[in-house]
Amino acid sequence: MLTFGCQMNELDSELALASMAEGGFANTGSAADADVILVNTCSVRDKAEQKAYSFLGRAARLKKHRPGVVIAVLGCMAQKEGELIFKRAPYVDIVAGTRQFTRINELVRRVRENKERVLSLGRDDEVVSAKRLRVRDVRHSLQVAVMRGCDHHCTFCVVPNTRGVEASKPFEEVVKECEILVGSGAVEITLLGQNIDSYGKRLNPRRSLAELLHAVGAIQGLQRLRFITSHPADLKPELFRAFREVPKLMPYLHFPAQSGSDRILRAMRRGYTYDEYLKLVDAAREACPEIGLAGDTIVGFPTESDQDFERTLELHRRAEYQNAFIFTYSHREFTPADKMDLKDDVPEDVKLARCNALLDLQRDVSEKVLSKYVGRVVKVLGDRPSKRSPASRVASPESSVSDDGSDPRPVTRDTRRFEGRSPQNILVHVDSGRDLKGKLYDARITRSSPFALYGELV
Ligand code: SAM
Ligand code: F3S
Repeated sequence: MLTFGCQMNELDSELALASMAEGGFANTGSAADADVILVNTCSVRDKAEQKAYSFLGRAARLKKHRPGVVIAVLGCMAQKEGELIFKRAPYVDIVAGTRQFTRINELVRRVRENKERVLSLGRDDEVVSAKRLRVRDVRHSLQVAVMRGCDHHCTFCVVPNTRGVEASKPFEEVVKECEILVGSGAVEITLLGQNIDSYGKRLNPRRSLAELLHAVGAIQGLQRLRFITSHPADLKPELFRAFREVPKLMPYLHFPAQSGSDRILRAMRRGYTYDEYLKLVDAAREACPEIGLAGDTIVGFPTESDQDFERTLELHRRAEYQNAFIFTYSHREFTPADKMDLKDDVPEDVKLARCNALLDLQRDVSEKVLSKYVGRVVKVLGDRPSKRSPASRVASPESSVSDDGSDPRPVTRDTRRFEGRSPQNILVHVDSGRDLKGKLYDARITRSSPFALYGELV
């Protein structure tokens, strides 16, 4: 199984693997040995789609030697491109959209029995219920999708097209699912939604994210609770209060601004201004002084001028993000910008220069924010052995430009050093010499980089 894209995609891939396991398949971990190759795709930027097609080309060569291999394209690109994928890549057997992950094993069975292709793009699947997760691998840290889709119409974004309108998973079902996962060994849960702060608006009775955090935060045995991603226009004061009121809720808020220019924010249809966004930054810090803030920013949106970009630089300085995802604008078919015929008029070299300037600035901001932890003791949840020489790589998936989250270089891990996450979700490396996976421990921070903290076990 190969996954491109965001954390929601990673979770969807887990669901697909769970569905395959229900059908009696085991995960080989490598396409070369697999009878079924699943590719979970991303459409947010053009580059992610290009990478998916280039992987499919490699899968086709494998299939030439072993014609029985089933190739399935899942997720956002499948939803968006549909039948077109069969035309561009005739060796593909299954094209299955964003609400089909729990049925993958049935679709594979159909292909094998009937020797015919399957196109499955319906959006009628439930928001993925706990009942369908019987064989999901349980680790110490797990994600739970609490909603699917998005009701916003940000002009640059293809997600409402690929994932449909917002649908929240019933409140009791989320709590039950979390209880099951904690009962099987999870100590950290991250609730996921494209626009999670509007959770529950169509449920009857109406529910809120704050209520959900209170309920999940009360589960015995759970140690840490997180949620991503919030839309600034939907953030409510009760959510800020939850950081004080729910002890297990970790002080981390990812709420993308996208731009610092009011003109561009209007053109993006984000529903807030620079000043309103910074008021939220201040309110979050007032409610929870130790909170770590993270953002997403797009540079080179149509018509963005040097002055507009200056405002974005200013916003990053002022927000003092601990980390930010920075993207160059990619014009996407089926977005409002496409329908409005908004020309992608910022030259690629200008986009790239702005992207690098913002990355440099954010690196300085992150360095300053992270250096505040040096000399302090932080509580860390151990995750896995550290990547070898992390300084030479992009140290955190959240620290730099990312197009689709994939990194083609093989990862080697250092068995003497262990990495985990601080309450603010900052990567923390300690020299441990032992396995700290799933354990909570204190680390005294001795040094920092813009991407991570380094320390010793207390
Ligand atoms: N729901 C989130 C929010 O409230 O902003 C964002 C979801 S989107 C999958 C993740 C990020 O991809 C966005 O925050 C945005 O920065 C980036 N993105 C989306 N469409 C893009 C495009 N057309 N070009 C470049 N970046 C894009
Ligand atoms: Fe996309 Fe905006 Fe929704 S970025 S996921 S349309 S909040």
